[in-house]
Amino acid sequence: METKLLKADDQSLRLAADLLKAGQLVAFPTETVYGLGADALNRDAVLSIFQAKGRPADNPLIVHIHDRSQLIGLCIVPDQAVPLMDAFWPGPLTILFEKLPVVPDEVTAGLPTVAVRMPSHPVASALLRVSGLPVAAPSANSSGRPSPTLAAHVMEDMSGRIPLILDGGSCDVGVESTVLDLCHGTPTILRPGGITKEMLESVLHTGVALAGSILRPLRPDEKALSPGMRYKHYAPRAVITLVEGDSSAVLPLMHTLYADEIAQGKKACVLCFSEHMEALKDCSPHDIGSESHPEEVAHRLFRMLRSLDDEGMESVFSEVIPPEGVGLAVMNRLGRAAAFRTIKAE
Ligand code: TXA
Ligand code: MG
Repeated sequence: METKLLKADDQSLRLAADLLKAGQLVAFPTETVYGLGADALNRDAVLSIFQAKGRPADNPLIVHIHDRSQLIGLCIVPDQAVPLMDAFWPGPLTILFEKLPVVPDEVTAGLPTVAVRMPSHPVASALLRVSGLPVAAPSANSSGRPSPTLAAHVMEDMSGRIPLILDGGSCDVGVESTVLDLCHGTPTILRPGGITKEMLESVLHTGVALAGSILRPLRPDEKALSPGMRYKHYAPRAVITLVEGDSSAVLPLMHTLYADEIAQGKKACVLCFSEHMEALKDCSPHDIGSESHPEEVAHRLFRMLRSLDDEGMESVFSEVIPPEGVGLAVMNRLGRAAAFRTIKAE
């Protein structure tokens, strides 16, 4: 199959909407990452998402809508969700709801809940409006690859597998939406994202819990609250190691670690804050953004992880940011890319 890459405009949006209505897949930009969409109520179309991505069938999908009236046919909305939707929709917040029978089990991987979000990206919003469909869409990467934040990333992974990619430039947030569970007692973040724990608490006026495995690997006996957290995700081919501690100790340790890898003939580099590019100039430094702007680090992260593969990196040492605000989403993705391998600099 030939994969068309078209700049998003009225004409390509109409073509995309027609493809979705015909049960085909379309990749489209959202404010978080690119999504790979299909008509959420068409079982066969939904199944072809799993095929195109090589995604395990037990990992459920997020349903995207452009208008709250679409919820009526899909799920049961608890009162607690209303102020959250008022505050954060459209935007990078996904909420789990009790599903109605019309939502195919293929979308929810047989779970009784359905994850829903209303994206704020104008192209996503227009596609949802023009097609009139609820659209099931995971990130548009091959399973196991970093999520795509540029149309070119989608092309790398999906070329020949889907008919159309809508190009809407680079995704603003850069990490996937926050996934919030309101169905099981204390509101719980299953996956951190652009809408932070602090932002959710300020609207709910109550504490929000974090799923246990956000900053550590899932234990063998532990049940994943969100099936996606079970899989090794976001992994580039290089071995990544996080280097934690005060920068007065981290920077000299990075020099030593880098030199050891080079001495063994490995292709190595460091991921560091803009502020440390100069101090680490002999260690093939890659700029992950400013230490004081975690949003910038989030925006660059997946593009950076993909470029490590393009450069054929084998060993990578990365600085870390405090797991607060958007920093929590960054450390969740970076931690998993590193399989939580960490060295403490002292
Ligand atoms: O920002 C985003 O959320 C992007 C864009 C395209 O909207 N989508 C995205 O989808 O990241 P995906 O499929 O890559 O990640 C969806 C996550 C997975 O970790 C999945 O396990 C979880 O949401 N999820 C979906 N439905 C769920 C459910 N009913 N219960 C628990 N977790 C669920
Ligand atoms: Mg994904």
